[in-house]
Amino acid sequence: MKTPASLLTLIDEGVIDEVMRPLKSGKEAAVYVVRAGDDVRCAKVYKDMAQRSFQKRVQYQEGRKSRGSREARAVATGSRYGRRQQEAEWKNAEVEALYQLREAGVRVPEPYGFFHGVLVMELVTDADGFSAPRLGEVELEPARARRFHQALVRDVVRMLCCGLIHGDLSAYNVLVDPEGPVLIDFPQVVSATGNNAARTMLLRDVNNLTATLGRWAPDLLDTWYGEEMWALFEAGQLAPDTPLTGHFTPDEHAVDLDGVRDAINDARELALIRQQGREAADED
Ligand SMILES: Nc1ncnc2c1ncn2[C@@H]1O[C@H](COP(=O)(O)OP(=O)(O)O)[C@@H](O)[C@H]1O
Ligand SMILES: [Mg+2]
Repeated sequence: MKTPASLLTLIDEGVIDEVMRPLKSGKEAAVYVVRAGDDVRCAKVYKDMAQRSFQKRVQYQEGRKSRGSREARAVATGSRYGRRQQEAEWKNAEVEALYQLREAGVRVPEPYGFFHGVLVMELVTDADGFSAPRLGEVELEPARARRFHQALVRDVVRMLCCGLIHGDLSAYNVLVDPEGPVLIDFPQVVSATGNNAARTMLLRDVNNLTATLGRWAPDLLDTWYGEEMWALFEAGQLAPDTPLTGHFTPDEHAVDLDGVRDAINDARELALIRQQGREAADED
């Protein structure tokens, strides 16, 4: 196994003690199982391309909030590091989202910090301590699929109440541990306000979850949670514990054509940004 230089740096600096094995490697990141003292954790190493397309994505994300006490936590988790460096690296949208979402009660891996372009976080595991399967890899009884769906819809609501939309939620970015689903993979997280593509992305996220779990519980395919939560959110009536029914009647008299056009343009722009990122990766 070729250990990436950034992980060797983390070993030199004492953040981790050992790289145990590679877990998954994709286009934008490689994930490793690592040991820090007695703890087994995972380390997500972003590829250079990801860093570059990050910049574009960050620009794309209008209305992003500035940081607060999280900086303090960054320094606390990485006490060997200079504050200035931490602040510079805090620009990572993923680790920032993880801290914020954990605080809001969303099931995400516990982040331990962001060092030299590497996110160190909790390794989500199955009952035997092995890395957890993805939602698309498990077989579910209908009742369990419905429970998972409820839990995921609630986590999407909690996220929305933080002003965030995952933006790439699918069977690949949900892990299953003994307590249920855990959301992962947040670099593309999108601001829910001041972003015209937000609704489209929220509906796509919820539809992906519904389609995946609808394979085990087909009654789920008849639900409209995304539309329902967005209407409540827009009306300022969505709280983390607001009950949802899954029913939704669209108001056909109030079709906002400009809004639809803006959403389509935004989705296209996002697709273009992703495409450019992929092309940049292929050039490497
Ligand atoms: N905290 C974690 N615990 C266990 N497995 C993880 C964790 N984070 C990522 N993985 C595994 O690594 C894969 C890739 O990670 P992900 O964050 O989705 O990055 P990307 O899809 O951009 O490569 C996941 O699909 C999952 O199988
Ligand atoms: Mg992923």
